[in-house]
Parts: sequence; structure tokens; C-alpha cells
Amino acid sequence: MNDLKSGFSSQRYLTGFHAREIPHQFADVIVVGTGAAGLRAAIEAAGHCNVLLLSKQTCEETATAYAQGGIAAVLDAADSVEQHVEDTLRTGCGLCDARMVRAIVGEGPERIRELLDWGAKFDREDGRLAFTREGGHSRARILHADGDSTGAELMNTLIRKARALDKIRWKENCFAIDLLTRDRTCLGVLAHDGGGGFIARGHRVILATGGCGRIYRETTNPSIATGDGIAMAYRAGADIENVEFVQFHPTTLYLAGASRALISEAVRGEGARLVNKSGQAFMKNYHLAGDLAPRDVVSRAVLAEMDKTGDTNVYLDFSHMDPQEVYLRFPRIKKLCAACHLDITRHPIPVRPSAHYMVGGVKTDGRGRTTIKNLFAAGEVACTGFHGANRLGSNSLLESVVMGRRAGAAAGETAAKRKSQPKPLLLRSEKAAIAGGDLDLADLENSLRSLMWRIGGIVRNGPALEAALGRVRFWQSYVLKRQFSEPEAWSLQNMMTVAELVLRAALIRRESRGVHYRKDFPNTNDRNWKHTVILRREEAEPG
Ligand code: FAD
Ligand code: SIN
Repeated sequence: MNDLKSGFSSQRYLTGFHAREIPHQFADVIVVGTGAAGLRAAIEAAGHCNVLLLSKQTCEETATAYAQGGIAAVLDAADSVEQHVEDTLRTGCGLCDARMVRAIVGEGPERIRELLDWGAKFDREDGRLAFTREGGHSRARILHADGDSTGAELMNTLIRKARALDKIRWKENCFAIDLLTRDRTCLGVLAHDGGGGFIARGHRVILATGGCGRIYRETTNPSIATGDGIAMAYRAGADIENVEFVQFHPTTLYLAGASRALISEAVRGEGARLVNKSGQAFMKNYHLAGDLAPRDVVSRAVLAEMDKTGDTNVYLDFSHMDPQEVYLRFPRIKKLCAACHLDITRHPIPVRPSAHYMVGGVKTDGRGRTTIKNLFAAGEVACTGFHGANRLGSNSLLESVVMGRRAGAAAGETAAKRKSQPKPLLLRSEKAAIAGGDLDLADLENSLRSLMWRIGGIVRNGPALEAALGRVRFWQSYVLKRQFSEPEAWSLQNMMTVAELVLRAALIRRESRGVHYRKDFPNTNDRNWKHTVILRREEAEPG
């Protein structure tokens, strides 16, 4: 059995630095990430104090911006918080924190009304908000914008609002390398931008760095989703919870050379069907809810159907639907497919599953507080207990705005009570002896992502997970101890750390539950496993 304790990821800082020798920038609250969670947090914190807002690419380049299906909230008179809570709990397969589910679902309508006040244009029918449905929801309760461009509208709204606040200072194309800590207290962020390394020193830090889909070869996630926040928090000693639960989306466009773009679950909510290469609809053979079964069920059914038919993918069929309505409702998907000469109303659209969402993450409480003092987390990087072992579609944008606000309020209020500016730091970390050198980073990244797709993916089993963990640790042995000076390399180092954590957690959980499926333990085992898996870097921190 592999040693499941920390491997080479146990080193404290990715890079050498002497705090006394590099510039400091001060702010009361530092927010890392400009997706729905980071922007919402920054807006809230700026109501109390000064905020420094970092993003590793432009502020628009986030997973949020690509969200299609929508944002779930109880706004229809015929719907109820209790029903949304019930759907979320059922999908979470026994691991949701029921109090968090009630809190987040309950706060949803208020957050949406606020977005509407800030100018968000969600789609309407006859002047009233229009709702769609996705798998696992017992009702149509998902708001959308421009048909299938909900995330873009959310980003426009939040960026507009945040840009109007002069207490927020923006730093784009700025890579957060590590959280700086002493005595399990967060003191700031070691970061790097065009001008070189600097320390963002603050009273509170909020991580809103999004997910880690890029550790998989097949993913819907944009290039920013390399799990930096989870890796940084792990190195700093925070509790990392439930990272075995990686959600795979069943319908990603599968065409050689095309990007693995998402084809929203909402298309099935509006009537599209999954069919095999003979044109047979197959989902009813796997689940009573058919095409709207939970995502883990649909993903495994798609794999089983590919296996049966020997095809590399299955298809989405819109041909029985009114073409004009389809074009109107899904303009983004229409355009995406048209770029590959596919008309969604006439051609079957080739799809297969890919990694989509990290259900686990940095453990937080209901105010976004992590287990490191003064460090908060919100959005996909965090694990609040809202999703349990599986995430209901369109619940993550909801969680991001609710928890972003809560983390921003808690961090902002407490930072504002501190009278003085944070003091300069004296921390230091020695440079690794070996420079980055001639490693082929692209080759390493491809190898890691392929391995994770084959072994850490939709169907897992113990011996293969152990072997994969051994392989990742071997790569870590000559990659993590090197001194790099460019963001791409730090991202790769983070991906290796997160991959290790996912494999370790997947090995530890000897059962199948929600999105975690083990062929060698195919049943859910409530007696032994109805609890979360926590990983923590045990080694004492220097300084
Ligand atoms: P993100 O929006 O991913 O933002 C992360 C931010 O962190 C970025 O600004 C990035 O630059 C920054 N960052 C990361 N690392 C660093 C670093 N080292 N230094 C500095 N900055 C850093 N969910 C729904 O609820 N409904 C949907 O319809 C939906 N559709 C989706 C469609 C797609 C294609 C994808 C990929 C996801 C979808 N999801 C959807 C999931 C949802 O979009 C995400 O979970 C959510 O947007 C995450 O928001 P976030 O603010 O946590 O992170
Ligand atoms: C989708 O549109 O299918 C994605 C929705 C989500 O991930 O919540």
C-alpha cells in the first residue's frame, strides 16, 4: 500500500524569497480571483476597507465567464426553498452539510435580486423571469442570460459594479504563488507580475481561485483552472476536504481539433436527447429520470454506451425540436458547433464526458473561514459542504455569489477593525538548489493530464490509483524541488500537487458515492464512509 501521507508536495513554498528584499503592496483585504466568488467578495469587502484584487490572466478570463446553463435560485412562486434544499441534499448523496444547504439556498433569491438591481439581464418570457431545468432539479428554477451565456452576463454585471468602487485596486496578469503564514496565521500573498515578485501584505486573504479541471486531459475548464488555490492552501497547512469528488460533465463537444467545449445540460432540460450511433435514445435504460438523471449517472451511462457500441462518443440529438426555438435558446452552442460545420438542429452532435467541477476543496465554515487564521476561501476552490458528494447543476454560481458575499463581509468587517496598516514581513524561504533548467514542461503536463484522465477519472480502482500516485510522486521528485521563475511552471507544480491530493483521497475512500466511483468498491458504504476525507500537510512550517 502506498504511503498516503504527503509526498514531495510537503515543501512549504514553491520558490525562494527574502521578504525584506522584495517590494510590498499593502491592502486590508487581498482577494485572489476575479470570478463570481472573487468579484462578489471584493465588492462586499470594499464596503468596509481597501481591497487588492488579483487575477492571473485578465480579470474576464475565469470559469464563470464560460458558464452556460445558469444559476439556480428559488424565485418562482410555485417553487420552494425546501424543494431546492431537498434536491441538493439528494444529489449530494448523504455528504451535504444540511445547514449550509439551507443557508445557501435560502440566501439565493436575495443575491439574485441584488444582481438584478445591479443591472443583470436574465432572460424573460412575457416580462417575467424565465427558468430552465437541469438534471436532478425537481423543477425549472435556473435563470439564464442570452440563452446560454449566463456566465458572461454575470461577469459583466459584477465587473461593472466592482469597477465603480474606488476602494478596489486591480492587478491583472498577476500570479499568486503562495500564501505567507506564520503560526498558522495568513499574513499575505507572495505574487508575481510583469514587474517581478512582490508581497501583497494584508490583514485578511480571500482565495477565490476556482477549480482544477486542467489536471485532466479532457475538461470543460479554461486554462486558469489549475488548482493553484488548493495547492497554495495545502502548502500553508489548511484542511483540504473531499477532493476525491470531481464532477464529470457528460456532454462535451468531441471533435478532433475542436476545443472540448461544454454543451449545456440545459439542452436536455429543453428536450434534446442523448443517442448512440444507431440513433437510439439510451438514457432510460440506465435511470428512470432518463436524460435528466444526475450527471455522474449520465457520465457512466455514456461510457457504458461507448463501450457497447465501440464508438468514441455518443450524440446529442435536437432534430425533433423546433429549429428556430433551438437557435434562439442556445445561440452560443449553435455558433460553437457551426464553427465545425455542424448545424445543431440537423446533425447529431458528438459528445462525451470530461472533467468539469471540483466538488471538494479548501474546507471553510459558513463565513468562508478556512482552518488557517485570517485566510478565507469562496467559490469552487472552497468546500463548504453545500454539494456533498455531487453537485446539482447551476448550484455553483449560486454558491459562488452567496459565499463570496459572506467571505467578503467576514474578512472586510474584521480587517476594518484593525487600526494600523499591516507591518512589512521578515519571512524568507531558501531557493531550491536546482534551477528549472531543461525540463519539457509541456510534456510533463500532457503526461499528468493523460494519467489523471485514465486513472483518476470517471471509473477508478485501487491498484491503478496506487500506481498512478506512485507515478505522480516520481514526477514530483524532480519537478517540485526545482526553482522556476515563470507562472506556467508554478501552475504545473500546483497541478502535480492537486493531482496527488485527488489520487490520495480517491484511494482513501474505499466505496462509491456521488461522483466518486470505484470499480473495486462499487457500493456506497454508509457505515464506514458517511463522512468527509480531509488531507492536511503535517510538517511544521518554517519561520
Ligand atoms: P473562477 O470563475 O474560475 O475564477 C477563478 C479566478 O481565480 C480567475 O480570476 C483566475 O485568474 C484566478 N486565479 C486562479 N489561480 C490564480 C493564481 N495563482 N493567481 C492569481 N489568480 C488566480 N456553474 C453553474 O452554476 N452554472 C453553469 O451554468 C455553469 N456552467 C459552466 C460551464 C463551464 C464551461 C464551466 C467550466 C463551468 C461551469 N459552471 C457552471 C461551474 C462554474 O462556472 C464555476 O464553478 C464557477 O464559475 C467558479 O467561480 P469562481 O469564482 O470560484 O472561480
Ligand atoms: C451546464 O450548462 O450544463 C453546466 C451547468 C453547471 O455546471 O452547473
